[in-house]
Amino acid sequence: MKNKLDLLQDKIKQAHAGGGAARIESQHKKGKLTARERLHFLLDEGSFEEIGMLVTHRSTDFGMENEKYPGDGVVTGYGNINGRLVYVFSQDFTVFGGSLSETHAEKICKIMDMAMKNGAPVIGLNDSGGARIQEGVVSLGGYADIFYKNVQASGVVPQLSAIMGPCAGGAVYSPAITDFILMVENTSYMFVTGPNVVKTVTHEEVTSEELGGASTHATKSGVTHFACPNELDAINHVKKLLSYMPQNCEELPALLPYTTGNEERNALNNIMPQNSNQPYDIREVINEVADEGSFLEVHKDYAENIVVGFARLGGRSIGIIANQPAYLAGVLDNHASVKAARFVRFCDCFNIPLLVFEDVPGFLPGTDQEWNGIISNGAKLLYAFSEATVPRITVITRKAYGGAYDVMNSKHIGADLNYAWPSAEIAVMGAKGAAEIIFKKEISAAQNPEEKWLEKEKLYSEIFANPYRAAERGFVDEVIEPSNTRNKLIKAFKMLENKAVKNPRKKHGNIPL
Ligand code: HXC
Repeated sequence: MKNKLDLLQDKIKQAHAGGGAARIESQHKKGKLTARERLHFLLDEGSFEEIGMLVTHRSTDFGMENEKYPGDGVVTGYGNINGRLVYVFSQDFTVFGGSLSETHAEKICKIMDMAMKNGAPVIGLNDSGGARIQEGVVSLGGYADIFYKNVQASGVVPQLSAIMGPCAGGAVYSPAITDFILMVENTSYMFVTGPNVVKTVTHEEVTSEELGGASTHATKSGVTHFACPNELDAINHVKKLLSYMPQNCEELPALLPYTTGNEERNALNNIMPQNSNQPYDIREVINEVADEGSFLEVHKDYAENIVVGFARLGGRSIGIIANQPAYLAGVLDNHASVKAARFVRFCDCFNIPLLVFEDVPGFLPGTDQEWNGIISNGAKLLYAFSEATVPRITVITRKAYGGAYDVMNSKHIGADLNYAWPSAEIAVMGAKGAAEIIFKKEISAAQNPEEKWLEKEKLYSEIFANPYRAAERGFVDEVIEPSNTRNKLIKAFKMLENKAVKNPRKKHGNIPL
């Protein structure tokens, strides 16, 4: 037996050694952790159970039969994060550059199957040179197997992808299908074709970092939801993100213990500027309303005219979507619409109630917006809200103009409760433009057209630049003092906690993608 135990220990040792000391050193020199070190920081101490540690590849071309590493470049298994079960895979760059072989793919698919059967999130720590070049099409098949599982798991269990190194070629499509992507600045990148191919095809000279680094994807493409300064920060973000989510689509997010106290937030009465065209930071509103320090902003540096993120309200996990008057006056454009739509859909998948803060002057006009599909993109947000069956509440803080009024979780598209602050302005368009159109003849016939225009603008403002017309119709359920917002919302979300509605039976809807 001793020999047998020694053999087992030898094999475990080999697996733990990955691609060997020299390659581990090279990984550290790049400022990167190894696959196992990352799991050590991600999972509760002692909770990791490895699955498939001794799997090796089956390749025999190019002398590959003589080069085998137990685990084959990916560490897979399950463990706990803050006491909750998760399934994980962590690619080991020290073994064939973390490249994906047939067996490497099988290991990932195996834990994804387990995650779906047992209803727990999947976390992928990606660090890979892509398809295992020595394996050819078998490796491509492995990728497609993973993509297929990603789609099957989508909406069943949360899927998170932390990109800790290279992620290139078709490999990017697995993270892209998952719910959230986190990237590490300077050591990770994602692109479909790298700088060399780009140079050949388009003659552009671009570095990997410029083409597909964390800040590029956090600001320009919106591919990543988080750009983290280092790996530990990315790992901590994964843990924080999970804390707002249930384990699977059948569960509700955990409700943290909360004792109601004084929920008045007087500071909210002083946030709104005197002049309704002046900006303010909607994050101030969010931070006052949400439980202290609980707001986790998603996609912070992308489409900044809309703010989305998770927070807690009286201990309850919620998703917040808020127009940002401090950036482009909070207008809805292509990027903001898509950003918000995807966030709404995530929350709805996983039973996370939605809270909307609305201050939107409308959709952004212009050829750039129209030619890039603001019609379809705005429709995505409209669709996402309309199909969401989770509890949904809107607070109109100021402007709710035009189509954007309808889109931003209006009563008409199924919101449960719509509040407005006394500063709300709810109309088809701003008073100046409205007066110009409906009093055109009167204004041009007047002795002093400017004066007439101002007079008519004032008239339109008096009638519509307030929440009371909408409240009279019941489109706004209540006009509330800003300081009372948190109090109202805590009660309202509690009242809605057993909401049960079902959309009409269908195979699936056809969101205007
Ligand atoms: C097999 C690979 C590999 C790969 C790297 N390695 N990529 N082995 N298949 N795809 C191995 C190297 O041979 C090397 O082995 C070790 O990993 C580390 O690689 P280095 O090049 O020394 O590291 P570094 O300088 O950091 O460069 C990393 C890299 C580079 C940028 C990722 O290795 C690279 O460009 N690799 C190829 C990337 C690629 O073209 N992949 C295919 C993409 S197409 P040793 O033994 O020296 O340690 C694709 C299609 C997917 O993925 C489609 C899905 C639908």
